[in-house]
Amino acid sequence: MNKTRLDGISAVVFDAYGTLFNLNAMSEIARPLADAKTDALLDLWRRKQLEYSWLRSLTGQHTDFLQITADSLDYACAALGLDNATLRARLLDAYRTPTAYEEVPEMLSRLRAAGLGRAILSNGSPAMLASGVAAAGLETLLDAVLSVSSVGIFKPHPAVYRLAVNHFHVAPEQIAFVSSNGWDVAGAAAFGFQVAWVNRAGLPAERLPSGPSAMLSDLTALPALLGV
Ligand code: LAC
Repeated sequence: MNKTRLDGISAVVFDAYGTLFNLNAMSEIARPLADAKTDALLDLWRRKQLEYSWLRSLTGQHTDFLQITADSLDYACAALGLDNATLRARLLDAYRTPTAYEEVPEMLSRLRAAGLGRAILSNGSPAMLASGVAAAGLETLLDAVLSVSSVGIFKPHPAVYRLAVNHFHVAPEQIAFVSSNGWDVAGAAAFGFQVAWVNRAGLPAERLPSGPSAMLSDLTALPALLGV
């Protein structure tokens, strides 16, 4: 970890939810309806969403990430005794229409000005991602939005990371992969990308065999890390 510069990069590939897309609005949406259970609901929802993505990958039962997002929300609501159709509808809607973290447009503009490729590589389905990219106002700042749907398995399967290599026609080490998720960081590093972990929450390092080359507290310093 802790490199201050990633060299030889020609394209930058981003995770979407929680990395470019800010999901903090979820707690404002949930709080009036879930009250003291809000934090537990959002935490369990995200954990189950990822767990279901890994279980469906391991069992060969791939489906749309929006389905997994709804199934995991239903599980979390049931576990916490929250049966509220309005809460469910509002949270799923917010997933379809996220905002970007405030530093994202300027950061992507700088990468574009430097001639670096810029793509999303996400578990999200193409429809979810198109709606998210439009809602976040990022359409003109990205040159590709790559979804796992074309390989039918979720991250961190190597076939997903290979989508970025095939898109940009470069070696894995020429791609800077940027994610806020420790497990995604580990998968991308194992694949051979140079990885920057956006650790906004100050979480401990994952105890996994492959890890990031660098850690950032938000995306502001990414252009400098890439020397642009
Ligand atoms: C994604 C989720 C994992 O965008 O954040 O792939």
